[in-house]
Amino acid sequence: MLFYLAKMMIGRIHLSLLVALVHGLVIAAALTHTDDFVSLEALRNTWMDVPPNWSGADPCGHSWSGISCSGNRVVSITLASFNLSGQLSSDIARLSELQTLDLSYNKGMTGPLPAAIGNLKKLSSLILVGCGFSGPIPPSIGSLQQLVYLSLNSNNFIGEIPSSIGNLSNLYWLDLADNKLSGTIPVSNGSTPGLDMLLQTKHFHFGRNQLSGEIPTQLFSSSMTLIHLLLENNQLSGSIPSTLGLVQTLEAVRLDRNSLSGPVPQNLNNLTSIQELFLANNQLSGPLPNLTGMNSLNYVDMSNNSFDATNVPPWFSSLQSLTSLIMENTHIRGQLPVSMFSPFQLQTVSLKNNRINGTLNIGSIYSSQLKVIDLQNNLVDAFTQRAGYSVQIILVDNPICTEGGTENYCTFLYQSNSSYSTPAENCTPLPCDADKLSSPTCKCAYPYTGTLSFRAPSFSNFGNSSVFASLEKKLMDTFRSRSLPVDSVSLNNPTKDIDSYLVLNLQVFPSGQDYFNYTGISGVGFMLSNQTFKPPHGFGPFYFIGNNYPYFAGLTSASHKSSRTGVFIGAAVCGIVLLLLLLLAGLYALCQRKRAETATKKSDPFASWDPNAKSGGVPQLKGTKSFSFGELKRCTDNFSDMNDVGSGGYGKVYRGILSNGQVVAIKRAQQGSSQGGLEFKTEIELLSRVHHKNVVSLVGFCFDHGEQMLVYEFIANGTLKDSLSGRSGIRLDWVRRLRIALGAAKGLQYLHDLANPPIIHRDIKSNNILLDERLNAKVADFGLSKLMGDPEKGHVTTQVKGTMGYLDPEYYMTQQLTDKSDVYSFGVLLLELLTSRSPIERGKYIVMEVKEAMDKSKDLYNLQEILDPIVASSTAPKSVEKFVDLALMCVQELGVNRPSMSEVVKGIENVMELAGLNPNVESVSTSSSYGGTSKGSEHPYSNESLFASTVAYSPTSVVEENDRVQRD
Ligand SMILES: *[C@@H]1O[C@H](CO)[C@@H](O)[C@H](O)[C@H]1NC(C)=O
Ligand SMILES: *[C@@H]1O[C@H](CO)[C@@H](O)[C@H](O)[C@H]1NC(C)=O
Ligand SMILES: *[C@@H]1O[C@H](CO)[C@@H](O)[C@H](O)[C@H]1NC(C)=O
Repeated sequence: MLFYLAKMMIGRIHLSLLVALVHGLVIAAALTHTDDFVSLEALRNTWMDVPPNWSGADPCGHSWSGISCSGNRVVSITLASFNLSGQLSSDIARLSELQTLDLSYNKGMTGPLPAAIGNLKKLSSLILVGCGFSGPIPPSIGSLQQLVYLSLNSNNFIGEIPSSIGNLSNLYWLDLADNKLSGTIPVSNGSTPGLDMLLQTKHFHFGRNQLSGEIPTQLFSSSMTLIHLLLENNQLSGSIPSTLGLVQTLEAVRLDRNSLSGPVPQNLNNLTSIQELFLANNQLSGPLPNLTGMNSLNYVDMSNNSFDATNVPPWFSSLQSLTSLIMENTHIRGQLPVSMFSPFQLQTVSLKNNRINGTLNIGSIYSSQLKVIDLQNNLVDAFTQRAGYSVQIILVDNPICTEGGTENYCTFLYQSNSSYSTPAENCTPLPCDADKLSSPTCKCAYPYTGTLSFRAPSFSNFGNSSVFASLEKKLMDTFRSRSLPVDSVSLNNPTKDIDSYLVLNLQVFPSGQDYFNYTGISGVGFMLSNQTFKPPHGFGPFYFIGNNYPYFAGLTSASHKSSRTGVFIGAAVCGIVLLLLLLLAGLYALCQRKRAETATKKSDPFASWDPNAKSGGVPQLKGTKSFSFGELKRCTDNFSDMNDVGSGGYGKVYRGILSNGQVVAIKRAQQGSSQGGLEFKTEIELLSRVHHKNVVSLVGFCFDHGEQMLVYEFIANGTLKDSLSGRSGIRLDWVRRLRIALGAAKGLQYLHDLANPPIIHRDIKSNNILLDERLNAKVADFGLSKLMGDPEKGHVTTQVKGTMGYLDPEYYMTQQLTDKSDVYSFGVLLLELLTSRSPIERGKYIVMEVKEAMDKSKDLYNLQEILDPIVASSTAPKSVEKFVDLALMCVQELGVNRPSMSEVVKGIENVMELAGLNPNVESVSTSSSYGGTSKGSEHPYSNESLFASTVAYSPTSVVEENDRVQRD
C-alpha cells in the first residue's frame, strides 16, 4: 500500500504536492505557500493548454509563466492571450494574497464567474476582457474592497449590473461593455448600494449591452469624478436627467443608439470639458441643444433625433475645437455660414438629410484638415467653387444636382480614406515563410495580433498618417518603458464601425527572437488589457482584443524533475509523521484530481457528445460529424492558401476533401470572432436540424485545439454575386434568374416557417446565395442568424448587424429584428437579380433608384436603363413588371407592409407562370452547358477565376466591394 502510494506520488501531480507539503513544513521560506500552490494546482488541472513550465510544486520559485509572487505568496496572475480554455473554478478563492487577476483574451475560458471570487479581498485588478464568460456577474464582486480596475467587457455576461458594485469605493475603472447585461442601472436606496456611490470612478463603460429603463436621475451628482460616460447601444429610454449637467469632470459622453426621448436638459452646456458628445439615434425632441460655450468639443454627433426644426445654430461657427460635426437628419434649415468652415481642426461636416438651402460657400480661409462636407439630400442650389479645394463635397440629391449635374460633387466618390498601414522604416520588407510577417523593421517574425478599438475618438479623418504614427510611437515608448521584448508595432486598416468606434488592427513584433515566449505575451497583453497603455490625446477610451498566439517557444518542464526527486528522497526518511502526511497528501491529490476532472467536464460542453458512446449519443446531431483539428488540417493541406476560397468577418473559408472523397467548404472562425463553447454548440445543434434542398447543409464541425470550424457541403458554382457580376462566367438569363429567386425564397421561407425554432438569417445578400452545379440556389452563412427565442413576441432585440445596402432600415432604427428584416434584404436581392447591380453602386442606392425611375404607365415601368439588358430583353415583359412589383413590396419602409416569405414564394411562382414556366419543374441541365464562357470545374472563388481573362456577358464588369462595410 505504502509502496503503491509512494509510487503514485512520483507521478505528476502528487509528487509536486508532496514536495509542497514537505517544504511548507520543513523549509517553508523557500517555497510557494501551500494554499497558493494547491489553488494553482487545481486551476492547472481544470484548464487545458497551460504553459509547459507550469510543472513542479513551486510556482513562485520556478517562475511559472504568468504567475508573480511576493515572497512565497502569489500576488499576480496575468495570462492574457495564453490560449487557455476551461472554467474559472472557485479554487481561485484560496489565493488570498492575490492582487491582480488578468485572464483576458482567452476565448476558451467559459462558464460563470464563481461567487467565491468575492473572497479575494486583496484584489485590486480583475481583468477578464474578451473571454467567453457567461452567466450573471456575481454580487459577491461588491466585497472586493480594494478593487481599482474591474474590466469584464466583451464576454457573454447576462443579468443585471449587481448593485453591490456601488460598494467598491476605490474603483477607478468600470468596464462592463459588450456583454448581454439587461435591467436598469442600479442606484442606491437606503439599504442597497448603487453606482451613484462610486465617487472615485472615472470610467463608466457600459455600451453594447441591453440595459433598459430610464437613466436614473440619482445616478449623477456634483461629487462624481467621471470622465467617460459610455452608455451607447443599449435600450435606455426616458429622458436624459438634468443631473448629468452636474458632473463637471466629464470629457466623453455617449448616450447614442438608445431609445431616449424628451428634450435634452438645457444645462448640458455647463459641461465645458466635454470633448466627445454622442446623442445620435435616439428619439430626443424639443429644441436642438444649445452647445454654446462647450469650447472643448471636438466631436459632436446628434444625428437622427426628432428635434424641432431650427435654423443653423450660431454654435456651428463658434466652437473652435470642432473636428467633426455630424448632424444628419436633425431638421436643420437655412444657409450655412462661411465662418463655420474656419475652425482650424475641422475635418468632417456631415449634415445629410436636412433642409440646408441657398449657396454653399466654404470661403477661402477654411480648415486645412477639412476632408469631407456631406450635404446629401438638402436644398442647396448653388456652390461657390474655388480652385484647389482638396475637400470632398457631396451635394447629391440637392437642387444643384438634380438638373443632371455631372460635377464631382454630384456623384459619390467612394474615397476610402482609411488605407493606413505602418510603413517600413527605411528598409525593404522581406518575403516570409509560414505565418511569419515582415515587421516594420523588415524582420520576419510571428507577431502578436489583435484589434484596438477606440470608443470615442476626437477625430474623424482616418487618412492622416501622422495621427497613427503618434499612436505607434506611444505604444513603442510604453513597451520600452516596461522593458517588454518588442521590436516594433504595425497598425493597419483603420475603420469606423457601426457604433462609430475607430477600429484598427495591431501587430506587435518580438525583439531578439522571432516569437514571443509566454512571459512576453503576458506582459504585452497586460499592458493593453490593464490600460497601462495610455493612447495619445484624441484617441480617447480604448479596449484591445488580442488574438490567440499559437507560436510560443516551448519551455520544457523536464529540467525540474530530477531535483524534485532528490527532495523527495530526502524527505522520505523523515519517519512516520511524514508517511501520515503522505497519506493525507495522496488522498488530497486524488480529491483534487477528481475535482479537476469534474471541472474539465463542466467546461467542455461537448463532453456529453462522446462520439464513441454507442447509445444515448447525440440524437439531435443526426448526420453531423465531429472532426478533429488534425483531420481538417490534413484535408485542407494545412489550411493552405491554395484552398482558401473566401473570407468574411468571421474568418476564412477553405475547400477540403474528406477522406471519403466528399468535397467540403470549411468555415474557420478566426481567433477573435469565435464564440463561447456553449454558443457554438447551440449553433451546431441548430444547423444540424436544418435540412432543405435550398439551404446549404452542415456536414460537421470541429471544436478542438481552441478552434471552431463548421464543415459544409461544397457548392460548386459559388455565389450568386459572382454570377451576377460576370466573375463566374455563368450567364444568367431571365428564366434562370427566376428559378434562382424561387429557390432562394423557398430556402428562406423554410428557415422562417418550418425550422424549429424559426431562424432569422440577418444577412441575406447575393454573396450568401450559392449556386450548385445545376444552378439551384442555396441559402448559406448563418453566421449572424438569430433564433426567434419567443415566436410570440415576434421580434428579437439585437445589435444591428448585416450588410450595408441590404439592411432593413426599420431594424436599423429600432434594433428589433423580425423575419420582415430578411424580407427587406430579399427584396434588395430581387432588385439585384433584375439589374445585376450591387445595392449601392456609384453612389446610388438601388431601392431609391428603381423607385424614382419607375413609371407604371410605360413599358417595363420605364426601367429599361436600370434593368440588366438580358432582363430588359426578356420575351415576357409582363413577368418582369410583376417581379418589380414584388421586389418593391419587399422593400416597403414598414415591416408590416412587406409580404411574408411564403407570400413571396407564391409571388415568384405567379411571375414564373406569366413567363410561361412551370414553377414545379426544376432545371435539369448543368452549368457547364450554360452560355457565356465555359469554365470547366473551376470554382468561382478560386484565385484563378478572379483573374480569369474571360468576361461573361454582364453590364457590370466591375464589382464594387463597398457594400461590405459592416461585416468584413
Ligand atoms: C445659447 O446659449 C448661449 C450661452 O448660454 C446664449 O447666449 C444664447 O442666447 C443661447 N442661444 C439660444 C438660441 O438659446
Ligand atoms: C432658406 O431657408 C430659410 C429657413 O427656412 C428661409 O427663411 C430662406 O428664405 C431660405 N433661403 C433661400 C435662399 O431659399
Ligand atoms: C494630421 O494631423 C496632425 C496632428 O493632429 C496635424 O497637425 C496635421 O495638420 C494633420 N494633417 C492633415 C493633412 O490633416
